[in-house]
Amino acid sequence: MSGELSPIDKAKFVAAKRAVDFVESGMRVGLGTGSTAAWMVRCLGEMVREDGLKITGVPTSTRTAELARQVGIPVVSLDEAKWLDVTIDGADEFDRDLALIKGGGGALLQEKIVATASDQMIVISDASKEVEHLGAFPLPVEVVPFGWQTTKAILEETLINLEVLGQHGTLRLNGDVPFVTDEGNFIIDLHLNRINNVRQTALVLNQVPGVVENGLFVDICDVVVIGHGDGLVEVRDINEGTVEQEKIEFVDTDNLFSDIAD
Ligand code: A5P
Repeated sequence: MSGELSPIDKAKFVAAKRAVDFVESGMRVGLGTGSTAAWMVRCLGEMVREDGLKITGVPTSTRTAELARQVGIPVVSLDEAKWLDVTIDGADEFDRDLALIKGGGGALLQEKIVATASDQMIVISDASKEVEHLGAFPLPVEVVPFGWQTTKAILEETLINLEVLGQHGTLRLNGDVPFVTDEGNFIIDLHLNRINNVRQTALVLNQVPGVVENGLFVDICDVVVIGHGDGLVEVRDINEGTVEQEKIEFVDTDNLFSDIAD
């Protein structure tokens, strides 16, 4: 079954497979959103069902909650869990300091809250998402629907004074209508091309009235697990300053590889 996977899916899978090694029985685990995180949820589900792993999951979106339940992971809300041992999630871009752009899947708000409420955040990614400078991927900004056009205009004006190479924003659509997040908000994607001062950009954007949160994750991620299509995985720990590599073998786990919805 694994032979049917594209190299990019193999890369995502091996990153997820390696990252679940960080999870131990008794842990409260933040479950990220997106196609890479979906592999991780499947892997954890298999460990719960077949190895007796006892964990509590806190999903970062309704679709991750649905998948977690499907694969057998007990799910609670963040308020029930209160604090988490680890969160494992994907990213749209990461740099050498493990600053991230997230929110390509529209779940950045819950993802940021959950990751911040965790002792450790582990990002799982294929190698294509590593960048020298963040910003080629449009930066998602979650805004309340009220007055969103004004919020967008103020955001674009604000960008003129920031160290970025683009000032244009677009409302994210779902077909012909605005994309609506799990929290009932809209997303404005900012086309910045390159963000030279990530910390400043993250702080200033959140000062604009109407903005709920932006997709820059600064000083939140501790570890990145980078997967490659040939099964090689690299684990970089920013706190320990360590880099480890290993090869993950594909195994015949049809249940893992079938119909991932995300
Ligand atoms: C969801 O809102 C995002 O933050 C995802 O984590 C990110 O877009 C990565 O998604 P993929 O793993 O599908 O690329």
